[in-house]
Amino acid sequence: IGQVDDVQELHRAGLETVPDRYIRDGDDRPGGDNVCALAHIPVIDVGELTRDDELNKLRLACEEWGFFQVVNHGIEDELLDEMEKLAREFFMLPLEEKEKYPMAPGGIQGYGHAFVFSEDQKLDWCNMLALGVEPAFIRQPKLWPTTPAKFKETLEKYSVEIRGLCRRLLAHIAETLGLAPGTFGDMFGEAVQAVRMNFYPPCPRPELVLGLSAHSDGSAVTVLQQDMSCAGLQVIKDGAWVPVHPIPHALVINLGDSLEVLTNGRYRSVEHRAVTNSEQDRLSVVTFYAPAYDVELGPLPEFVTDEAPCRYRRFNHGEYSRHYVTRRLEGKKTLEFAKINQI
Ligand code: SIN
Ligand code: FE2
Repeated sequence: IGQVDDVQELHRAGLETVPDRYIRDGDDRPGGDNVCALAHIPVIDVGELTRDDELNKLRLACEEWGFFQVVNHGIEDELLDEMEKLAREFFMLPLEEKEKYPMAPGGIQGYGHAFVFSEDQKLDWCNMLALGVEPAFIRQPKLWPTTPAKFKETLEKYSVEIRGLCRRLLAHIAETLGLAPGTFGDMFGEAVQAVRMNFYPPCPRPELVLGLSAHSDGSAVTVLQQDMSCAGLQVIKDGAWVPVHPIPHALVINLGDSLEVLTNGRYRSVEHRAVTNSEQDRLSVVTFYAPAYDVELGPLPEFVTDEAPCRYRRFNHGEYSRHYVTRRLEGKKTLEFAKINQI
């Protein structure tokens, strides 16, 4: 696939144009009339989810959006700030320093460009640092940055907190579906947790490029911490792109492909993308929480009825993960893997 440029270096070089490989075809460009700037994804107060009305809000958020922000989530502001600061410091290091943690071609951990598989594929205006966190066997300790000095320790602490939040949210999500709160926790076994930090430098032609191609997540749930000072994430809703406006210390939650399969499409994973701008860089810290690799997924019997026939086959989650990480991000195409062909 040849050499993929490091977009921070392109930015540092002061480009006024962008290389062809970043220029999207018309439909795929971020500008245009299919952006709905006035809509907002729902905001859920996690501390209130023991109340029926808040739980109902969560149900609607899952049904209608697949995306919401959470406040009062129990994770300390200082920890979120510290993680963001250290991630930013990492991306600001000289390239030679970051390249000490290289993502292998076709690999998924380390610093570099995941999801690049062909010469003619359009590239994202983004640098990534991706790390497996749990269970221990997916960790590649050599790829955890030693600079900045507190990075490892903070990521460790951060991951424990985010993991707790994922479990709590999955218990509430189960409740919104009429399932026992422990349903997903029990089923997921030693859940897989991975983190990806995305850094989007300013782009001289933001109207032509994407920071991150449209995709749905291969997780069960994803927790996204975004830069307070700069919007960029967009979520699809009724065919239009809705920007996610940052709320200080809120976290953005989205449902991934596993939940779509388990609920037989009652809840869906939703396409999202990131756009860039010419003024400011943007950082996001994204945690993916997914079933253990040996878990077999398929629609739960509760969700298969005469009105809602079975839409997905049964498959091993590890097999799906491999499928997911070995092709480019392209909307919800990856989930075709699990669909039962309907006539
Ligand atoms: C992602 O979907 O992984 C990241 C999107 C963002 O940076 O907001
Ligand atoms: Fe995503």
